[in-house]
Amino acid sequence: MEGLKGKSIVVTGGGSGIGRATAVMLGKAGCNVTIADLHPDAGEAVVREVQAAGGDAQFIRTDANLEDDARNMVKAAVARYGWLDGACNAAGVQSCSKLVHEMSAEEWDRCHNLNMRGLFFCNKHEIAAMLENGGGSIVNIASSGALAAFPNGSEYCASKAGVLGFVRAAALDYATKGIRINAVLPGGTLTPMLAEAMETDPGLEPAIAAVHPMNRFGQPSEIASGICWLLSDGASFVTGVSLPVDGGHTAV
Ligand SMILES: NC(=O)c1ccc[n+]([C@@H]2O[C@H](COP(=O)([O-])OP(=O)(O)OC[C@H]3O[C@@H](n4cnc5c(N)ncnc54)[C@H](O)[C@@H]3O)[C@@H](O)[C@H]2O)c1
Repeated sequence: MEGLKGKSIVVTGGGSGIGRATAVMLGKAGCNVTIADLHPDAGEAVVREVQAAGGDAQFIRTDANLEDDARNMVKAAVARYGWLDGACNAAGVQSCSKLVHEMSAEEWDRCHNLNMRGLFFCNKHEIAAMLENGGGSIVNIASSGALAAFPNGSEYCASKAGVLGFVRAAALDYATKGIRINAVLPGGTLTPMLAEAMETDPGLEPAIAAVHPMNRFGQPSEIASGICWLLSDGASFVTGVSLPVDGGHTAV
């Protein structure tokens, strides 16, 4: 992909699924990728994949729920690669799959703590670093569930809808500073997260397939294509956008 070579980019949740596919695609484009994830084994494996694809990479053990970890992840990217050009914030948790009246405060908080509060910490420190080098591009991973609800997903859909509002407001605040802030809204995508959710809730697989006009799940690389385009200079006039990459889910 054009307009990515040599860029320093952080990927949270880079050890698996959509984050992993994004990191590897960035590696193919010649980027320097900082992979931030809870799990060192998975993260280190992706480092090797990025290097084999032609880029450079490092792994930083990060709990995106914690502000200190978000700060350290950005520091590590700047320390190794000199500056920060981009970030894909993909770390997220799935719904607890309960109806509202059966959901505990802890289950609500678990989802919102990472999908919104942790995402805020990551954006905060990424933006601070980008202001130092005159600009950058941030892609926050929301979900088609932000626009089109699915059953038993109230806390998840609310958290992802919150990401869309955050992205629009933050894009406005930094538009003249050269920092573009966008969201990608994946539809049902074949990753370990979705596989786990389908195991917990057997009704989920047919329900998800049925709402995608393309009548199939997405592949992580199909979501990564949209993310990498928004990170690239090819999207230089795009900010504040929520881009569905969802097989038509939100078109219905
Ligand atoms: N898979 C789908 O169908 C789908 C659809 C819409 C949106 N999404 C969103 O895409 C993003 C990525 O999901 P995925 O399907 O690739 O999931 P995944 O489970 O395959 O990968 C998520 C990664 O995030 C890491 N992670 C979890 N909590 C973390 C934390 N606190 N700090 C740092 N890393 C953490 C995990 O270790 C894992 O490597 C999530 O935000 C998810 O909500 C996924």
